[in-house]
Amino acid sequence: MAKIRYKNTHVQFADNVYEPAEDTFLLTDSAFNFIRNGMNVLEIGTGSGFVSAVLKTNFNINIITTEINPHAARCARSNGVEVVRTDMFDGLKPYPCFDFILFNPPYLPTNDDEKVPGWMNYSYDGGVDGCDAIRDFLNNVCDYLKPEGIIMLLVSSLSGTEYIEQMMESRGFEVNIVCRNRYFFEELVVLCGRHKN
Ligand SMILES: C[S@@+](CC[C@H](N)C(=O)[O-])C[C@H]1O[C@@H](n2cnc3c(N)ncnc32)[C@H](O)[C@@H]1O
Repeated sequence: MAKIRYKNTHVQFADNVYEPAEDTFLLTDSAFNFIRNGMNVLEIGTGSGFVSAVLKTNFNINIITTEINPHAARCARSNGVEVVRTDMFDGLKPYPCFDFILFNPPYLPTNDDEKVPGWMNYSYDGGVDGCDAIRDFLNNVCDYLKPEGIIMLLVSSLSGTEYIEQMMESRGFEVNIVCRNRYFFEELVVLCGRHKN
């Protein structure tokens, strides 16, 4: 198992699990500016558990995660992260109890012939326009978010940042771009939305 040390946290990752990458680090660093001690936090699609493990080490928070890939769920647990192995929010009580919900989704526009075999497809496949998982997330997140709670989404220019901002606004969020970095073939953007009740 390979290991990474980041912000006082040792995280290991395994085969068939998304390896922490630029998007993971951008989301983690951005969350540091919004998380406060005492918050109830939910991470969807935790993968290796990197983001949640680092937040847990550095803040006094209650944090729970979900993950669909069984290899990733096992890996995240080995990193001390609590995981519900499920599809998106399924199995969580639909009660608005979280102050902060974050997600680094599969966001690559993907046709049928571009799919990756096995569980790893869930790390990349955002459907034809790259937004399938993001739409699913935004259609359900308000059932779990406290009034004036915050969501944080990592998105790519490949899946249309403005379109995603509009989706967030139409669901009652005041949206800010809190970080953007250009890479070889895409720009990665961290969107933060505070729900206006
Ligand atoms: C881009 S990876 C990010 C992993 C990790 N959060 C990180 O930042 O390194 C997306 C993760 O979401 C998980 N995922 C995708 N669709 C999901 C769903 N419907 N429910 C739960 N997890 C999902 C994938 O298995 C994968 O681990």
